[in-house]
Amino acid sequence: VWPVILVPVREIQSGMRLAKSILLSGGRLFLARGLELRESYVTPLLEQGIAAVYIVNEMAPEITAADVISEEVRRAVTEELRQVMVQFHPATGQVPRHAGGPVSVTLEVQRLKAAVDALVNEVMTNHQVVYNLKDLRSTDDYTLGHSVNVCVLSSLLGAVTGLSTPELRDLALGALLHDIGKVATPAQVLGKPSKLTPEETAIMQRHTSDGWNILKEQRGIPYPAAIIALQHHERWGGGGYPEGLKEQQIFKYARLCAVADCFDAMTADRVYRPGMTHERALQTMEREMASYFEPDLVSAFISCVAPYPVGSLVVLSDGRRAVVVDVPRGNTSRPKVRVVTGEDGRQLPQDGQVDLDLAGYPQVQILELLSQGAGEFCADSLDR
Ligand SMILES: [Fe+2]
Repeated sequence: VWPVILVPVREIQSGMRLAKSILLSGGRLFLARGLELRESYVTPLLEQGIAAVYIVNEMAPEITAADVISEEVRRAVTEELRQVMVQFHPATGQVPRHAGGPVSVTLEVQRLKAAVDALVNEVMTNHQVVYNLKDLRSTDDYTLGHSVNVCVLSSLLGAVTGLSTPELRDLALGALLHDIGKVATPAQVLGKPSKLTPEETAIMQRHTSDGWNILKEQRGIPYPAAIIALQHHERWGGGGYPEGLKEQQIFKYARLCAVADCFDAMTADRVYRPGMTHERALQTMEREMASYFEPDLVSAFISCVAPYPVGSLVVLSDGRRAVVVDVPRGNTSRPKVRVVTGEDGRQLPQDGQVDLDLAGYPQVQILELLSQGAGEFCADSLDR
């Protein structure tokens, strides 16, 4: 539980205190929670691809946001996944190919499964919690952090839509490994900062069948988990890959994972662009991508992901600025906020601040989210 406000890295001022640790790939600690920031940290943070940080909120020090999983469990799952990836090729994490696909590898999955089960237990305990916190990870190993986040979001969505614990374990394991086929994708395609050529796109898309070919051979990985790797880029309305399946032809866990995958891909900061805000990503999924996903899953997802996460600074329709204090499950677009400035933008003294439950004030709109990145939608990056 953190007292938080999300601040763009460029707006860091000396004396701000970090409310959430920042991890590098493999779970290595970059900057620890509680650290007092200095302006000199801006460049190193940006170089690590980190666009926003959570700081202790001096305007509303008792505001807290609970994460769906603990930092310890996130680090454990990240580390176990990294160990699995290292099994492919100890130096690069890449697996050599032969003509028919990647060379087969026997994975050590027992420890991974134990870590995933711990994650599922936390999601089951916390699933009244709304997904609030952006995972502050470095972009130096996108696939690793993305995989863990897709695992968390898929589990949350699975829990909200009524899956049992054994079902959630399979879903979470498959979601964590959904992009494992990328160990066979050449690094120059995976990390290319500009748009992929048609040939590169075809190579990129092979990660689905490559992943399936790796996972289906593993004892210890059940079919419902393995199939996610093959089908997570299939689209509800058809037109996905590799097989162009649609609706119920797509395995249920793959339909769930597709929602989580897309949301995290859009909101993550990448080397070549900052992530979209939660709000814009959810809107894009609802409006422009309606045919991609099973409609009921999108509604369920919106009920448990905060468009304006706790700790965000927002501009209200009357010009006042406010910090999001609490996001109710099921009505996530009407959070409770603390008004911290007047209509003229001047900061109010602490005893002049008022809490507003926007559910009770339909005339007050949220015009703008001030914290978080403001990245643009780029369909190309959904595949990478
Ligand atoms: Fe993928």
